[in-house]
Amino acid sequence: MKLPTARAQALGMHLVLILVTGLLASRLLVANPVPSTPAPVSPASAAVAEPATPWGGDYFPNTLLTDQDGRQVHFFDDLIKGKVVVINFIFTSCSDSCPLETARLRQVQKLLGDRVGKDIFFYSISIDPLSDTPAVLKAYAQRFQVGPGWQFLTGEFADVTELRQKLGLFIEGVDNGRTKDHNLSLIVGNQQTGRWMKASPFENPWILADQLANTLHNWKQPSVGESYANAPEIRPPSNGEELFRTRCASCHSLGPMDGQGIGMRSIGPDLVGVTRQRDPAWLNRWIREPDRMLAEKDPIATALFERFDKIPMPNLRLDERSVQSIIEFLQAETDRQQPLLTPLTVGAEEPQHQQAIAVPDKARVQ
Ligand code: HEC
Repeated sequence: MKLPTARAQALGMHLVLILVTGLLASRLLVANPVPSTPAPVSPASAAVAEPATPWGGDYFPNTLLTDQDGRQVHFFDDLIKGKVVVINFIFTSCSDSCPLETARLRQVQKLLGDRVGKDIFFYSISIDPLSDTPAVLKAYAQRFQVGPGWQFLTGEFADVTELRQKLGLFIEGVDNGRTKDHNLSLIVGNQQTGRWMKASPFENPWILADQLANTLHNWKQPSVGESYANAPEIRPPSNGEELFRTRCASCHSLGPMDGQGIGMRSIGPDLVGVTRQRDPAWLNRWIREPDRMLAEKDPIATALFERFDKIPMPNLRLDERSVQSIIEFLQAETDRQQPLLTPLTVGAEEPQHQQAIAVPDKARVQ
């Protein structure tokens, strides 16, 4: 099968780009993986001294959980023992950062391809077990079209809370029950080596994929030979672009060249042309408070919601300035990809941003 190579190459290329540009909008929260435990073992020594991790079966509970298909599994023995894993905590009725996180992980899953379920495992555990029954979780997973190797799990509320505490993903006082501050509910790790890292859902998917595919496997997989001479030119991103990449690109593409290598249908509509198609005030408000517009049954919002599998666009609590700079970026990107060759005449056809026809521009593939 050719795919892994192409994917790996693309991965390498993007990584170089990203590292070199220092565009990293989001930060890896490598520090403080698990509270009140010793520092992680370094990869080199971990490779030799295998059972050195202090975080084994006597640290992690063997909690009984149920997955989206109703199968019962034990947290330590079945889910993490000896494995490289991604774990996050969600609730399906969450309307802010969980959908972004799920969408981001879905991109990472695409990038990792068939390694997911083989040597990398994804787990989303509900913190709202009363509402999130296996059937509800299954429907959620299907709406986001997650692939195999990613389980959605539910269990007793107290047990799930304990898991969050053990993973260092529970902030007393902030995190009791439904929380707004969900940014740090994602952790990646290798149980065997004891290397655990918190990650941000705003993280670039290529970086997350690289951590899972390479870093956490102690770089055992052969790396890809890629000539950097082919690397696209580097531009400093505008504030709007950076916000778009970290907050929006988990669900939206920008033209047909965007998200290459991830190769999938976006969760939300492609946004090239949207600044020409929508009324500016509508667009501005929609980006700030889509949840309220949906609740008010705004006709455009409702139609889009129906068309996009009833996945609600999240309210990302952006301030006015951030929204403005994102819109400016969308406008600039639209003008770049779909230059207006002839002056618009009154009554000109409405641009079809869903089928953006872009001039391929290899310098901008990121
Ligand atoms: C979790 C996925 C997700 C994230 C993250 C997300 N969106 Fe959306 N977006 C959607 C979905 C899904 C729709 C379609 C409407 C719906 O289902 O609510 C949508 C619709 C839109 C639309 C309307 C498109 C049209 O045709 O009018 C715009 C504009 C938009 N999003 C912009 C953004 C921006 C800007 C961001 C980042 C600040 C963002 N979205 C983040 C999922 C997302």
